[in-house]
This record gives sequence, C-alpha cells and structure tokens, in this order.
Amino acid sequence: MAKEIKTIGVLTSGGDAPGMNAAVRSVVRTGLARGLKVKGIMRGYHGLLNEEIKDMVARDVSDIIQKGGTILGTARCMEFTTAEGQEKGAEICKKHGIDGIVVIGGDGSYRGAQKLARLGINTIGVPGTIDLDISCTDYTIGFDTAINTAMEAIDKVKDTSSSHERCSIIEVMGRNAGYIALWCGVANGAEDILLPENYDYDEQKIINNIIRNRKKGKKHHLIINAEGIGHSTSMARRIEAATGIETRATILGHMQRGGNPTCKDRYYASMMGACAVDALLAGKSNRVIAYKHGEFIDYDIEEALNMKKTIDPYQYEIARLL
Ligand code: ADP
Ligand code: F6P
Repeated sequence: MAKEIKTIGVLTSGGDAPGMNAAVRSVVRTGLARGLKVKGIMRGYHGLLNEEIKDMVARDVSDIIQKGGTILGTARCMEFTTAEGQEKGAEICKKHGIDGIVVIGGDGSYRGAQKLARLGINTIGVPGTIDLDISCTDYTIGFDTAINTAMEAIDKVKDTSSSHERCSIIEVMGRNAGYIALWCGVANGAEDILLPENYDYDEQKIINNIIRNRKKGKKHHLIINAEGIGHSTSMARRIEAATGIETRATILGHMQRGGNPTCKDRYYASMMGACAVDALLAGKSNRVIAYKHGEFIDYDIEEALNMKKTIDPYQYEIARLL
C-alpha cells in the first residue's frame, strides 16, 4: 500500500532557471490547498544535508512568480553523490517528517532524487533548466526566457556589427545541447549556426561563405555558436586572419540565466509544480513530470534518463537554409 503523504519538501538544484520561483510557488500553494504541510529546503541537496529546512506558508511565496533565480537558492553538492550523503539526506527527511520531495532541476538532480526514492523518500522531479536538454520532455522551465533574453542581446550585437561591417560570433549557453543556439540562430537570422549535435562544421566553408557574402554587399555575418562547441575567441581570430574582415566574439554567459520569466515559463512552471504535488499525493515516486504532445505526464526517472533527444534534422536544415 502506498504510504500516506502528509508533509512534502521542495528544493531547487543544479543551475537556476527563470520560472523556478513560479514552480516553487505552485508546489507550496498546491500542497497547502491539498491539506499538506510544505517545507522549503534551501540550497538544493547541500541545504538538505545541512538541515536548512523551513516551514512554508502561502505568504512565503507571495510576489515571486515574476522574479528570476530561485528564492530557495540552488547548489551543486558533491557530498550528495556519495552513498553516505544520500543516507544522511534520507535520515534528515525522516527526522523532519518529510514523506516526499519535489526536486526542481535537471538530469543530475533527478539522479539524486532517484537515490532518495530508493531510501524510502518519495520523489518527483520537475524539469528546470535553460538548456532544454531533458530528453523526456518537450519543455523545460527557463528555456523560453533564456532564448528571449539571448535573442534581444544578439539583436543588439547585430546592430553594431552591421554598422562596422564586421563578422560576429556569438556564443550562447546550453552545455552539450544546441537548442538555445538553434532557436536564436533562426530568430536572429544568423548566417551560420554551430551546434554540438551536428559537429560537422567546416571552418573553411564558413570563411568562403563570409567572403562570398561580402562580395555581394552583405554588411554583417552573424555566427551563433553553441557553448558545446565553444572556442569562439580563437575562431574569431582565425576568421579575421583568413577573410581580412574584422571579427569579434561575444560570449553571452550567465545573463541568459537571469531575468523575469516569460509568461510561458510562469505558466508551465505553475502547472508542473502542481502536477508534481498531485503525483506525490497519488502515491507516485521516482517519477519526473514532462510536457509531451500537449499534455503533462510523468515518467519513471530511470526511463527518462535513458531517453535520447536529438535536434530534428529537418529543423536544422531549414535553420541553415534561412
Ligand atoms: P542539473 O540538475 O542541472 O543537471 P547537476 O548535474 O549539477 O545539475 O546536478 C545537481 C546536483 O544533483 C549535484 O550537485 C548533486 O548534488 C546531485 N547529483 C548529481 N548527480 C548525482 C548522482 N549520480 N547521485 C546523486 N546525486 C547526484
Ligand atoms: O545548465 C545550465 C547552464 O547555464 C549551462 O547552459 C551551462 O553550461 C552551465 O549551466 C554553467 O554552469 P555554471 O553556472 O556552474 O557556470
């Protein structure tokens, strides 16, 4: 028989993402509305191991839905990757009467959740990462805000690049995934998009393309380079030397992770947070919430971690064609 859930915890873990606050708010308010006690665990698994746990009331999550970052704080915690750390974490949950935890984060955070589930603490993951690199879901909290932030920044770089008739390489985040680069590449009208999933780029081809475009009178050449490929600064030096055209590299960096979440991020985060609470109440554990084919569903964490996600070849082809 599934254990009765009376008290739940919520934590954010791994890289923060805009919309995490909306998810926390939803977990707290849905939990309270369903008659549960809700505890906020500060600084991810690190805070769990240090017992940074506090009771949450509805007012604790007032006025946060529009804010970037996470009010709970987040961390990467090495100690929790060890068996001793995980056992300590489960013991602390039991000590605080926590029957289930909602873990908002990425793949690494779900591995931690999986370990807690094996130790008797029911866990549900919620996908929170700007990278969109969680295979089981079409949507991750933070991606929409990050691409809009990056797109606006790239528009600005493009203005100055055109005025100076330069070539610009703009590096966007995404760890080993190229979704931010693909979306911005299309939205910003880039001449080239370099993705780690399609590591077939030929620098000489790019150089020839820049020279050909310049002869046709094109005033700029925008290359969106994914972090997973990197080396934008050295690439800029080589391109400038080969083409004779001034080339600058801009690495957008952590600004892509901050800022007020978009409506879409707030909405999906709110729904996913609620789904996670209801999954715990339904006796589920070791699952992750996903948005797939227009529906909110959940997958077993192991199954989710074994799924593969790739860039659709058709979308990549069209991105390059445009
Ligand atoms: P993300 O969740 O964004 O993928 P990380 O990969 O940094 O971010 O993982 C976040 C945290 O999850 C780690 O700092 C660690 O505490 C925990 N974690 C990651 N991998 C494991 C694992 N194999 N076992 C237990 N905990 C893990
Ligand atoms: O996973 C989100 C992300 O911003 C990645 O795009 C990037 O590779 C990484 O986190 C950066 O991590 P940190 O903030 O630790 O430098």
